[in-house]
Amino acid sequence: MPFYEYDEERFFRSDDPPADIAWRRRAGFVRLAELFRKRFAQTRRLTAELEVTLSDLQFTTAYRVPFQYSRFVRRHLDAGALVASSEGVSLTDLDGNRFFDLTGSYGVNLFGYDFYKGCIERGSDRVRALGPVLGAYHPVIISNVNRLREISALDEVSFHMSGTEAVMQAVRLARYHTRRLHLVRFSGAYHGWWGDVQPGVGNPVPARETYTLRDMDRASLRILRGRRDIACVLVNPGQSLHPNASAPSDSTLVDSARRAHFDREAYAAWLKELRAVCTERDIVLVFDEVLVGFRLALGGAQEYFGVRADMVVYGKTLGGGLPIGALCGRRDLMKRFRDDRPTDFCFARGTFNSHPYVMAAMHEFLSHLQMPEVHESYANLDQVWNARACRLNELLREADVPLEIANLSSIWTVCYTRPSRYNWMLQYYLRAQGLALSWIGTGRLIFSLNYTDADFDAVTNRFVAAACAMRDDGWWWTDGSVTNKSIRRRIAREVLARFL
Ligand SMILES: Cc1ncc(COP(=O)(O)O)c(C=O)c1O
Repeated sequence: MPFYEYDEERFFRSDDPPADIAWRRRAGFVRLAELFRKRFAQTRRLTAELEVTLSDLQFTTAYRVPFQYSRFVRRHLDAGALVASSEGVSLTDLDGNRFFDLTGSYGVNLFGYDFYKGCIERGSDRVRALGPVLGAYHPVIISNVNRLREISALDEVSFHMSGTEAVMQAVRLARYHTRRLHLVRFSGAYHGWWGDVQPGVGNPVPARETYTLRDMDRASLRILRGRRDIACVLVNPGQSLHPNASAPSDSTLVDSARRAHFDREAYAAWLKELRAVCTERDIVLVFDEVLVGFRLALGGAQEYFGVRADMVVYGKTLGGGLPIGALCGRRDLMKRFRDDRPTDFCFARGTFNSHPYVMAAMHEFLSHLQMPEVHESYANLDQVWNARACRLNELLREADVPLEIANLSSIWTVCYTRPSRYNWMLQYYLRAQGLALSWIGTGRLIFSLNYTDADFDAVTNRFVAAACAMRDDGWWWTDGSVTNKSIRRRIAREVLARFL
């Protein structure tokens, strides 16, 4: 795909609106740009300086909106990427602006930032005498292992430094024990950024031992039944919100084709069938619960969907606010050497694994889960979050804006109900209303469970206000003839023109 971009004129007219609509868009954009310039002045200035030498920031900044619009948006609608503090459900930037946090720190923030500050503080106190000693363990690890065994209903545990590494370890062990090379992942599923689980765009090396099959599809079960070279199947239960589609990101929001819908029963039934086939063919079934673990139920996705895996990967929130990946598995699969062949082992290390400070923060996190009031709160989690999504959808309908929320409990995505090329603008209207999203924008909102009804009402009101402002500025204009297909055809023509 060759690069091309719209000039300022085309930026507002990429769907050929009448002149007055283009003018309204421009006026709205100028108003937002002015507001961003004033409100986020200090945060923007320091972010721009940092961006020159922080490659990660360059990447996330570039991929917030479709590339044709990206440079112009970056120049004018930058809110900065530096924050000074967190409190309750809010973040505060360097200019003192407070935002409702809808990012959830990529899902780490399950119980609210103040809770994790407490985990880190109390945890640090507990291991202070030992400090950052590695190799030997602080005894706090014992209770962590026991709790994780209970939660996962599996025999053994290994600790890693990220979800990506824990997934790598699961796959390596599955290959070692089955003596088969191939892994299966489902279309669109994210399992971290290790090459073998991230085939295709973004990975310069072909993942030759990876099969990508269709999620929730009988044909995939037939393939699994018919082959003898598959070591493991990786399942990311977060995909149940959008099977066979990548984690939705606003950088790919070129039209309104994004769809999402969660059907717990259907996904549970699929997992049961998958479980049966894996058992039948001795394929290791790995649940990657890095994102959803502890968010859906105390016993994670295994409990929520009523299906047991052979290995389960946890991460994110488990570290009590510090970096973590953990693998739980059946004893026979977790063993890293063979008693009868001393030179045949499955290597895995990691300097910082089981770091005392991480183990201590994790201990605080896991202890919290055992409190009766936390147990109780899990009982009606879905009810609470489904009701909130429902209420927002009602208000969006009443306001006559083309938006619809789909949700998997507290993980939400915004879908767009009318074909448009400008849906990605919503993230900037939301920001102007004091709602902070992560770099993938409206594709994924992840809420922490400490949102009160009052907090949520405030978010709801601001969300609707942002959507109304965007509508009034003309971004969702249509003459009725535009379809998602016609938008894509048009983009294809633009791309083709670059080749010619
Ligand atoms: C399902 C899933 N697996 C694995 C990972 C990778 O974890 P980490 O970013 O800690 O390496 C993620 C991260 O977002 C994830 O969502």
